[in-house]
Amino acid sequence: MTLKPLKLNKGQRKLLKNFKNKMNVFEAIKNRRSVRAYKSDPVPEKKLNKVLEAARLAPSAHNAQEWKLMVVRKEETRKRLAKAALGQDFVGKAPVVIVAVALNPESKWGAIDLAIAIDHMTLQAVEEDLGTCWIGAFSQEEVKEILEIPEKYKVIALLPLGFPADKSVPKTRKDISEIVSYEHFK
Ligand SMILES: Cc1cc2nc3c(=O)[nH]c(=O)nc-3n(C[C@H](O)[C@H](O)[C@H](O)COP(=O)(O)O)c2cc1C
Repeated sequence: MTLKPLKLNKGQRKLLKNFKNKMNVFEAIKNRRSVRAYKSDPVPEKKLNKVLEAARLAPSAHNAQEWKLMVVRKEETRKRLAKAALGQDFVGKAPVVIVAVALNPESKWGAIDLAIAIDHMTLQAVEEDLGTCWIGAFSQEEVKEILEIPEKYKVIALLPLGFPADKSVPKTRKDISEIVSYEHFK
């Protein structure tokens, strides 16, 4: 007996495609990695907006949202940022660099809030088939000067964003038994 291939209409095909492409949170967490080589292909506006939206929806203490995400696309500026990131050249090769700025650095929660927002972006980027890398090694003064960021604010991290041009390597992590304890510290 031969089975006839199922004929789907346009709506059904779209539904199936969306279902196949659906990524769950744990999968995004597993697949996220630091990408240190990027293709020069531009980041489509739609994907960039999804990544930024993931930050916008992130929680913050008292829902303060005291942050600014600067999107840098100009090549010359990206190269200057790479220099300010202690010469990490790959930063400037990503087609987009997002610079995360805390607007109330005096607040106890400023850096924590930004860290959550940045991590939301790294995970959304995975769903968009994009790569990112947290950049914490940079000169605060230089980045502020390049982007004309007022002195009173604080740059928390840079986040290059683009299509990965390198290969994934297995994650090296401590065993769960080393980092989790139950009821008591030991
Ligand atoms: C706060 C923070 C700062 C980091 N700064 C840098 C950096 O300046 N340059 C870099 O190449 N990676 C940086 N990383 C990436 C870490 O090295 C990386 O996350 C870690 O080695 C685990 O690898 P994975 O991200 O591929 O899982 C940073 C990560 C964090 C969370």
